[in-house]
Amino acid sequence: MQKKKGVVSTESYKGVRDFYPEDMAVQEYLFETMRDVVSHFGYEEYSTSILEPSELYAAKTSEEIVNEQTYTFEDRGGRQVTLRPEMTPSVARLVAARRRELAFPLRWFSIPNVFRYERPQRGRLREHWQLNCDLFGVAALEGDIEVILLAYELMRAFGATEREFEIRINHRSVIPETLDLLAKKHNLSLPEEKQQDLLRLMDRKDKLSEEEYGIRLATLLGDDLAKVVLLQYNAATVRTLIAETTSGKRLLDLLAALEARGVANIVHDPYLVRGFDYYTGIIFEVFDTSKENNRSLFGGGRYDKLFDLFGMDSIPAVGFGMGDVTLRDFLETHKLLPAYHSPTELYIAVADTSSHAFAAQLAQRLRRHDLTVVVDLGEKKVGDQIKTATKKRVPFCIVVGTKEEQTGVYTLKHLESKHEIIVHEQDIADAIFEVLE
Ligand code: HAM
Repeated sequence: MQKKKGVVSTESYKGVRDFYPEDMAVQEYLFETMRDVVSHFGYEEYSTSILEPSELYAAKTSEEIVNEQTYTFEDRGGRQVTLRPEMTPSVARLVAARRRELAFPLRWFSIPNVFRYERPQRGRLREHWQLNCDLFGVAALEGDIEVILLAYELMRAFGATEREFEIRINHRSVIPETLDLLAKKHNLSLPEEKQQDLLRLMDRKDKLSEEEYGIRLATLLGDDLAKVVLLQYNAATVRTLIAETTSGKRLLDLLAALEARGVANIVHDPYLVRGFDYYTGIIFEVFDTSKENNRSLFGGGRYDKLFDLFGMDSIPAVGFGMGDVTLRDFLETHKLLPAYHSPTELYIAVADTSSHAFAAQLAQRLRRHDLTVVVDLGEKKVGDQIKTATKKRVPFCIVVGTKEEQTGVYTLKHLESKHEIIVHEQDIADAIFEVLE
């Protein structure tokens, strides 16, 4: 349809989020559950601005994100500014700025919205909220274990069983180290300067056709080495070589430790890379195991060297980002989202506008009993007001007219069951709480 000149569309900017109250209730449920779990692990909340100087992302974030996916603009003073596409560089900036004063180890979390210019599709939008949990100052394997356990406990708190999700784990260096061992058997070697590009290419493997992947591998590594990667780098050979590498040993120790602590749904995925250049150690991704939504839900890893960015020595850092879009898809797929409850407990319908003032005062008195109350201040018939309350899914309703004003006695109706009881004003709150609690 042709848009009338001067008329503004009600549609939001493509790929960003509007939350109507029912969506907001879901969002709040997600955030409350997240906050509850992470604070039990001692993680403390921080926050930063949505705007960052663009240079923060130039060196260490993935090329794809920086070149193709950031919202970057020049401000009025000629500075390059970026809407944060992720939180990790921001939190690293905060830690780096006060590294002398802060009491390490730090356990920090935040739930920011982040922006990426992506083609909107299921599980991928241009704006999402992301729980970020990061542990700074622990280089030991115990740090990786804690962070993965935290991810696991979050999934459990949302009601997921071990069969419904899987944690895929790898170590960034396992790929080049095992490949190098394979290459040596053919008198070849994997040059160090090619490693980062190889990891980037492997990360994009699923997005390329087999042929295109083969061509790019050959261009990067030469035909012989590309053949070794294509034909011999697979789960079975990696399994035989892994214990011969330092990173492989750490990975095996991690898998064993998690299993010993009761996490059974973990697997080593030799192709897991994760897109960011800053990961240096253990990386992991949580996957939905259902057929309908078989996709990555969230992930993270160790990134000790990100602090090079600020010209300082590395600080041990490990963490993850859990996105709200993929989490919500998961919870919907597995029917784990709680039913919507109206935040209002009692709806007061008014027989006639002359009772508005009385009804408003009654509402005020009831709120002092900690009841959530609204008065229908419209001019519709009582029947229509009750329909409104039902549509809003408010559990209880009373009607106020001259008789109620005089007697102080009300008919309290439970809208779903249509059950009614006669109550005095002072008993309304208790009668409602008895049913709702
Ligand atoms: P990431 O894998 O890019 O990692 O994002 C983490 C999660 O955010 C994803 O697994 C997904 O749940 C969600 N996500 C990412 N992009 C989108 C999108 N376009 N639409 C909806 N959801 C999305 C990071 O951002 C790292 N900074 C995480 C981290 C924290 N690593 C260490 N600490």
